[in-house]
Amino acid sequence: MIINPFKRNIARRDDHNRIHLIDFSDSSDPHAEAFRMLRLQVEVALGDGFPETCRSILITSTMQGEGKTTTAVNLARANAVAGIKTLLIDADNRHPMINHVFKIDQTPGLTEAILAGSSEKVSIQRSPIEKLDLISAGARQEFAAELLGSECFEQILTSLKKTYQLIIIDSTPFGMFADSGTIARKVDATFVVFYAGKTEPRNVEKTIKGLKGLAGNVKGVILSRVSAKRHAGYTYGYHDYYASYEKHHRSDSRPES
Ligand SMILES: Nc1ncnc2c1ncn2[C@@H]1O[C@H](COP(=O)(O)OP(=O)(O)O)[C@@H](O)[C@H]1O
Ligand SMILES: [Mg+2]
Repeated sequence: MIINPFKRNIARRDDHNRIHLIDFSDSSDPHAEAFRMLRLQVEVALGDGFPETCRSILITSTMQGEGKTTTAVNLARANAVAGIKTLLIDADNRHPMINHVFKIDQTPGLTEAILAGSSEKVSIQRSPIEKLDLISAGARQEFAAELLGSECFEQILTSLKKTYQLIIIDSTPFGMFADSGTIARKVDATFVVFYAGKTEPRNVEKTIKGLKGLAGNVKGVILSRVSAKRHAGYTYGYHDYYASYEKHHRSDSRPES
């Protein structure tokens, strides 16, 4: 699989920290349609209705800026809008974003819950969408990877899986920090975001290989910013946003302008 969240150029070039929120009430928005399709693909990969043994997913990528947070946030919203009880966790302690996107408190968050050593201490915050709850990153921690590798984090996830049908974890780049590799070992499925035409094919390969070596749960890749023009062969419609790993892999790696 998979799918491209949405066309490039929806965010201004200088707007590096802005996460674009898709309007799911606009039935004519192809980006909303692309996320609906991505949502569906993820459910198919995990199992219809998200069985309790398969409902926590990690969103990672090789580098910063490839679209992890954008994907995690909108995938979470797409599921909540579709009636799936969803939890979005910010596990990017180095560059926390969920608190900014939803204007919630950064602390207490995941760090504090793990440090408290109890799944009962986890602070869950509400989002404007009824079926979507949030856990922010918490205070910055020098030993983030060690915390995420702890048994307590695993217990927290196990306990949350009793309440939520889908748990989406946003994280740090796999190519830069050990955090996401550590989380990959604790979740049921891992999805890797690549910036279409920009992430070097050898890095695509390296990241997938690396993640597979750590955890055998890589369920798919998500291409962000697929250009319909550059990825010729896709017909008009939401399939413009579709791409498979193989196709991406074959395409050249010149950055899009
Ligand atoms: N498909 C996309 N189209 C346009 N801009 C995007 C897309 N995905 C991400 N961006 C923008 O790129 C920047 C980095 O995205 P982000 O999701 O924060 O990446 P990451 O979490 O991997 O660092 C943000 O400004 C975001 O709005
Ligand atoms: Mg991010």
